[in-house]
This record gives sequence, structure tokens and C-alpha cells, in this order.
Amino acid sequence: MIQKTYRKKKVVVFLAVVIIFLYAGYAYPQTDCAKCHKQIAVKKVVHAAIQTGCESCHTEPHQKKPKFPKGLSSDIPDLCYGCHDKTGFSKKNIHAPVAGGMCSGCHDSHSTDNAKLLISEPPELCFTCHDKTGFSGKKVVHAPVMGGMCSSCHTHHSSENEKLLTAQQPGLCFTCHDKSKFENKIIHAPVGSGMCTSCHSPHQSDNDKLLISAQPDICYNCHDKTDFTKKNVHAAVMMGCTECHNPHSNKQKLLFEKSINGLCLLKCHAYVSKAPHVLFTAGTKGHPLRGKRVKTSGGKIEIDRDPLRPDKEFSCSSCHNPHSSDYVKLFRYKADSAYELCSHCHKDF
Ligand code: HEC
Ligand code: HEC
Ligand code: HEC
Ligand code: HEC
Ligand code: HEC
Ligand code: HEC
Ligand code: HEC
Ligand code: HEC
Ligand code: HEC
Ligand code: HEC
Ligand code: HEC
Ligand code: HEC
Repeated sequence: MIQKTYRKKKVVVFLAVVIIFLYAGYAYPQTDCAKCHKQIAVKKVVHAAIQTGCESCHTEPHQKKPKFPKGLSSDIPDLCYGCHDKTGFSKKNIHAPVAGGMCSGCHDSHSTDNAKLLISEPPELCFTCHDKTGFSGKKVVHAPVMGGMCSSCHTHHSSENEKLLTAQQPGLCFTCHDKSKFENKIIHAPVGSGMCTSCHSPHQSDNDKLLISAQPDICYNCHDKTDFTKKNVHAAVMMGCTECHNPHSNKQKLLFEKSINGLCLLKCHAYVSKAPHVLFTAGTKGHPLRGKRVKTSGGKIEIDRDPLRPDKEFSCSSCHNPHSSDYVKLFRYKADSAYELCSHCHKDF
């Protein structure tokens, strides 16, 4: 009797265990797996897929010769695309590790301590594959790079833009920099075509203002050096081309803030207009420094042209080369003295 009851109890307990086991196995298969695989999903951020069961990815665990590594139901990234929309990963330019199916280069499939299952946070994440020295250590580091905000300019999976950029240049730059400074009346050709990185490094540089090379060399990448390297170089050129030209855009021709004469007189050579310039005889007013304003037959106001360069107005730079010259006083034309200069324009002198 005692034995019978005991046996009955044993059966009930056995059935209960089987039922619990089956039920648990059916509803929470992962608890079973977790019995042996204790370290799989213990970190702060757990992949939602774990809730649907380990088998949602590992259809053949422990098989001797599984079709796919680790008994997975398919290869990565196809496995992931089974639940995640592929469109975000297949735009025109695909990040190499994404194209190569190395999701695990950045994500843990089970759990991590970082948001979005990342194995580490950007920028450290990025530096696991990209040499950190490209983004720090030089004299000037671009503020968003310094702040580790790679994602303010790059996407991580794929992008319609080259270099995985979140937007094309110059729009990308204008998300943080005031656009109006680049849209004045006269726009420098490379700025107009949005080639900001033809002059600036987006990440860091040893030159001021993130320039890819220092002034004036940066300008010689596109402009012929010969006009700037004659025997006598204008001191202002040595200080930097941007002493006179705005590198981006400006109100006046040649990227000037003012007319040529205004620029020379107001910035450095005020005295030239205060006393007669180029005295021919005592008591004269000196040589005219800019072309007269004249009315054309059509009633338009025009400024007299430079007699030797009819496409330009008569200005300080009709007699002086503002960049460099092989002659004294930065004369534009061959002359060893003031007097020798005159005959270039005044044939009768
Ligand atoms: C009784 C303990 C135990 C249980 C329960 C268990 N595993 Fe394992 N599992 C192991 C051992 C031991 C290994 C081999 C050790 C290793 O290489 O990690 C292994 C290996 C694996 C591997 C790696 C296979 C490979 O090719 O490297 C996967 C994936 C895996 N188990 C998934 C699961 C899943 C999913 C479950 C639940 C359905 C599960 N395991 C339940 C013990 C267990
Ligand atoms: C979203 C799909 C997915 C789910 C769900 C999933 N795994 Fe995995 N698991 C993977 C992938 C992918 C790998 C291969 C490792 C890698 O490349 O990241 C892997 C590898 C493993 C390994 C091999 C050890 C290792 O880290 O390489 C074990 C063991 C394992 N998983 C156990 C489990 C267990 C247990 C569960 C349920 C608690 C589970 N997995 C749920 C995708 C998944
Ligand atoms: C069985 C379906 C399933 C599979 C397979 C799957 N995931 Fe997920 N994953 C989910 C669900 C559900 C979520 C939560 C909802 C969401 O964010 O889309 C999620 C979220 C994520 C997240 C965001 C986590 C967060 O905190 O927001 C990442 C990253 C991720 N999965 C990566 C992967 C990778 C990598 C693979 C392939 C190795 C993969 N997933 C395969 C279902 C799946
Ligand atoms: C180079 C690193 C990297 C690789 C490789 C990578 N991811 Fe991501 N993934 C990220 C980052 C960074 C985030 C976004 C984190 C955030 O928004 O804060 C992310 C977010 C996600 C999310 C959450 C939804 C979203 O888009 O924000 C899913 C899902 C995801 N990744 C799946 C995948 C899958 C699947 C693969 C492989 C095909 C993959 N990732 C490869 C870095 C990567
Ligand atoms: C798992 C390795 C890995 C990680 C992590 C990684 N990358 Fe990459 N990335 C590559 C490889 C490989 C290339 C292609 C070779 C190259 O240009 O260096 C690449 C190329 C790029 C490119 C150039 C794309 C092009 O079209 O030329 C950018 C931009 C980029 N990665 C940004 C990032 C950012 C931002 C992060 C961090 C969120 C990151 N990467 C994390 C491996 C990685
Ligand atoms: C202010 C925007 C911006 C930020 C922030 C930024 N990048 Fe870039 N990155 C660019 C631009 C623009 C290019 C393309 C340069 C070109 O076309 O000459 C680029 C190119 C790249 C490349 C391709 C190789 C190269 O140097 O041309 C990699 C890799 C890269 N960035 C990684 C990163 C990483 C990692 C971070 C964060 C530490 C980061 N970037 C932050 C704008 C940015
Ligand atoms: C996410 C915001 C952001 C984006 C996008 C951005 N910048 Fe910047 N940039 C800054 C900040 C912040 C500074 C530092 C404050 C300042 O000088 O305005 C800065 C400074 C600069 C400087 C001056 C550096 C110095 O030494 O003074 C240059 C040049 C520059 N950025 C160029 C660019 C170019 C070119 C792009 C587009 C490829 C760009 N930036 C995109 C935020 C940004
Ligand atoms: C032809 C070369 C060149 C191009 C193209 C160029 N820049 Fe510059 N940029 C410079 C130079 C030179 C400076 C330094 C000016 C100075 O020191 O007076 C500068 C300075 C800057 C500064 C620092 C603030 C300032 O105004 O001094 C920012 C920001 C900047 N540039 C952004 C941009 C952006 C955005 C683009 C594209 C729309 C761009 N640059 C295109 C040459 C260039
Ligand atoms: C990436 C090539 C490039 C770089 C670098 C460059 N320029 Fe230019 N620049 C051009 C082009 C193209 C033009 C238009 C064609 C021409 O007049 O030669 C131009 C025109 C000019 C003009 C005449 C503008 C006008 O409206 O008539 C000036 C002045 C000028 N650049 C100054 C500079 C200065 C100063 C630098 C250095 C800070 C510089 N450039 C660097 C390409 C460049
Ligand atoms: C002192 C002011 C000043 C400095 C500094 C200066 N420029 Fe000029 N630049 C001028 C003037 C004035 C002109 C108009 C010359 C003329 O009338 O032919 C000019 C014209 C130009 C032109 C147009 C040439 C043409 O044939 O139309 C370019 C390009 C140019 N400068 C580039 C530069 C570069 C590059 C530097 C630095 C290496 C530089 N400038 C430094 C004043 C300056
Ligand atoms: C008609 C030709 C001509 C024009 C136009 C002209 N200059 Fe001169 N400039 C000269 C001559 C000639 C000298 C040498 C005078 C002397 O040695 O007495 C000279 C000398 C100079 C000197 C050197 C003074 C010194 O002490 O060595 C400066 C600076 C100068 N000019 C600036 C300007 C400026 C600025 C303008 C425009 C506002 C200008 N010039 C317009 C012909 C001209
Ligand atoms: C680059 C050409 C150029 C050079 C070089 C030049 N001039 Fe002139 N000169 C002119 C022009 C143009 C006018 C007429 C200006 C006007 O009427 O607006 C002029 C006018 C004059 C006048 C008449 C002034 C008046 O008030 O009507 C005299 C005198 C004169 N120049 C003397 C000289 C002397 C002396 C030199 C040498 C030191 C010289 N010029 C060099 C272009 C030049």
C-alpha cells in the first residue's frame, strides 16, 4: 500500500516533470540552451530575436556537419535579412564589412553592454578597423571628429553618396557651417562646384583651418605659380593669398571685398592717396590712380580701361603687379626706374 502510493506519486512527479520540461522546451527553448550556454545573453542589451528562441537562428545546433557554421539556418548576412529589411544595407555604396557579411565586426548577435548591440561605441568601434592616427594627433582636429561624431557625416551600413556620406558636399558642410558666407556674388569655382575637400581635410590637418596644404601652396595646386615667384615677391603674398582674396566667395570681382584700389588703399597703402602719387612736375596732382567714370553712348557708366589690358579697368595693378615682379617697385612692365615705366603707356614720353 505504502509502496503503491509511493509508485503513484513517482509517476505523477515524473509526468509533471515531463510536462514542465516539454512546456518549457516549447515556450522557452532558450532556458534549456542557457543551462549550458550561460554566457550567451547576459549583457545589458539583449537581441530581441533571443526571445523568439535560440532556434530562430540556430536550427541545427550540435550537428556534426551543419549546413552553415554554428548550426545557423543560413549564412550571415542572409540570416539577418530574414528579419531585418535589406534596403538599408544595399544602397549604392556599401560599407566593406556590410558587403562582406561581417555584421559581427560591429554587432554581437546575442547581447552587449552598448545600445544597438554594438560591440563598442563609435568612434572606438570605427577604430577597430580604421587607423586611429588618421583622426587624431595633428595640429587641427575638426570639432565633430574630435567629439567622435563620425555619424554626423557618415552612415554605417550603406549610402547613396560616396564615402558613405550622409549628404553630398557642400550640403554636408552646410548642415553646420553658415551657407551664406559661401554664396556671395562672386563664387570661387571649386566652392561653386562643392569641392570643399579640394582644400580642406574633413578630419584633421597640420595646417591652420584644416587646409590640405599651407598657403600659398594650397593655391598652387590649381593656379600657375609663375606669377607669384618672380624676383620681388609682394610682402602681402607671403602673408597669405587670403590677405586679399576670399577663398570662398565675395562681393567683388576676383573675390575681393572692395575694388582693387579700395583694397590697396584701405588695407595697407593709405598714404598713396594722401599725397600725389608719381609726381611728374612739382605742383601737379600726381598720376590718376583709377580710370575715370565715363558715360557710354548707351547711357551706362563705365570705368576707363587699362590701355595695355583693355579687358581690365585702369587701377593700381595697371602699373604694379600685386603678386610679384622682376622689376623694382613691383612694376608690371620692364623698368629700372619710374621714368622707364611711363613709355609703356605713353609712347610719346
Ligand atoms: C547539455 C549542455 C548543452 C545544451 C543544453 C546545449 N548546448 Fe550547445 N553546446 C554545448 C557544448 C558542450 C558545446 C560545444 C562547446 C563549444 O564548442 O562551445 C555546444 C556548442 C554549441 C554551439 C556551437 C557550435 C559550433 O559549431 O561551434 C551552438 C551554436 C550551440 N551549442 C547552440 C545551442 C542551442 C541553440 C541550444 C539549445 C537548443 C544548445 N546549444 C543547448 C552544450 C550544450
Ligand atoms: C539572431 C540570431 C541568433 C540567435 C537568436 C542566437 N544566436 Fe547564437 N549565434 C548567432 C551567430 C550569428 C553566431 C556566430 C557567431 C558570430 O559570428 O557572431 C552565433 C554563435 C553561437 C555560439 C557559438 C559561440 C560563439 O559565440 O561563437 C553559441 C554557443 C550560440 N550562438 C548559442 C546561442 C544560444 C544558446 C542562443 C539562445 C539563447 C543563441 N545562440 C541565439 C546568432 C544567433
Ligand atoms: C528572428 C528574427 C531576427 C533575426 C534573424 C535577426 N534579428 Fe536583429 N532584431 C530582431 C528584432 C525583432 C529586433 C528588435 C526590433 C528592431 O529593432 O527591429 C532586432 C534588433 C536588432 C538590432 C538593434 C538592437 C537595438 O537595441 O535596437 C540589431 C543591431 C540587430 N537586430 C542585428 C541583427 C544582426 C546582425 C542579425 C544577424 C546576425 C540579426 N539582427 C538577425 C530580430 C531578428
Ligand atoms: C561598421 C560597423 C557596422 C557593421 C559592419 C554593421 N552595422 Fe549595423 N549598426 C551599426 C551602427 C553604428 C548602428 C547604429 C547605432 C545608432 O544608431 O546609434 C547600427 C544599427 C543597426 C541596426 C538597428 C537599426 C538601425 O539601422 O539603426 C540593425 C538592425 C543593424 N545595425 C543590423 C546590421 C546588420 C544586419 C549588419 C550586417 C549586414 C550590420 N548591422 C553591420 C554599425 C554596423
Ligand atoms: C569591421 C571593420 C570595420 C569597422 C568596424 C568600420 N569599418 Fe569602415 N571600412 C572598413 C573597410 C574594410 C573599408 C574599405 C577599405 C578602406 O577604405 O579602408 C571601410 C571603408 C570605410 C569608408 C570609406 C567608404 C568608401 O566608399 O570609400 C568610410 C567612410 C568608413 N569605412 C567609415 C566607417 C565608420 C564611420 C565606422 C564606425 C561607425 C567604420 N567605418 C567602422 C572596415 C570597417
Ligand atoms: C565633418 C564630416 C566628417 C566627419 C565628422 C567624419 N568624416 Fe570621414 N570623411 C568625410 C568626408 C567628406 C570624406 C571624403 C573625403 C574626400 O572625398 O576626400 C571622409 C572620408 C572618410 C573615410 C575614407 C578614407 C578617406 O580618408 O578618404 C573614412 C574611412 C572615414 N572618413 C572615416 C571616418 C571616421 C572613422 C570618423 C569618426 C572618427 C569620420 N570619418 C568623421 C567627412 C567626415
Ligand atoms: C557636425 C557639424 C559639422 C559639419 C557637418 C562640418 N563641420 Fe566644419 N566645423 C564644425 C565645428 C563645430 C567647427 C569649429 C567651430 C567653428 O570654427 O565654426 C568646425 C570648423 C571647421 C573649420 C575651421 C577649422 C579651424 O581650424 O578653425 C573648417 C575649415 C571646417 N570646419 C570645414 C568643414 C568642411 C569642409 C565640412 C564639410 C566637409 C565641414 N566643416 C562640416 C562642425 C562641422
Ligand atoms: C580654394 C580652396 C578652398 C575651398 C575650395 C574651400 N575653402 Fe574653406 N578655406 C580656405 C582657406 C584658405 C581658408 C582660411 C582663410 C583664412 O585663414 O583667412 C578657409 C577657411 C574655412 C573655414 C574657417 C572659417 C573661415 O571662414 O575662416 C571654414 C569653416 C571653411 N573654410 C569651410 C569651407 C567649406 C564648407 C567649403 C566648401 C563649401 C570650403 N571651405 C571650400 C580655402 C578653401
Ligand atoms: C581646386 C582648384 C583650386 C584651388 C585649390 C584654388 N583655386 Fe582659385 N580658381 C580655381 C578655378 C577653376 C578658377 C576659375 C578659372 C580661372 O579663373 O582660372 C579660380 C579662380 C580664382 C580667382 C579669380 C576669381 C574670379 O572670379 O575671377 C582667384 C582670385 C582665385 N582663384 C584665388 C585663389 C586663391 C587665393 C587660392 C588659394 C587660397 C585658390 N584660388 C585656390 C581653382 C582653384
Ligand atoms: C596684395 C593683394 C593680393 C594678394 C596677397 C594676392 N593677390 Fe591675387 N590678385 C590681386 C589683384 C589686385 C589682382 C588683379 C590683378 C590684375 O589686375 O590683373 C589679383 C588677381 C589674381 C588672380 C586672377 C588672375 C588673372 O589673371 O585674372 C588670381 C588667380 C590670383 N590673384 C590668385 C592669387 C593667389 C594664388 C595668391 C597667393 C599666392 C594671391 N592671388 C595673392 C591681389 C592680391
Ligand atoms: C601710373 C602708374 C601707377 C599707378 C596707377 C600706381 N602707381 Fe604706385 N608707383 C608708381 C611708380 C612709378 C612708383 C615709383 C615712384 C617713385 O619711385 O617715386 C610707384 C610706387 C609705389 C609704391 C612704393 C612707394 C615707395 O616708397 O617705394 C607703392 C606702395 C605704390 N606705388 C602703391 C600704389 C597703389 C596702392 C596704387 C593704387 C592706389 C598705385 N601705386 C598706383 C606707379 C603707379
Ligand atoms: C599702365 C599705363 C600707364 C603707365 C605705365 C603710365 N601712365 Fe600716365 N596715364 C595713363 C592713363 C590711362 C592716363 C589717363 C588717365 C585718365 O585720364 O583717367 C594717364 C595719364 C597721364 C597724365 C595726364 C594726367 C592728367 O591728369 O590728365 C600724365 C601727365 C601721365 N599719365 C604721366 C605718366 C608718367 C610720368 C608715367 C611714368 C611715371 C606714367 N604716366 C605711366 C596710363 C599710364
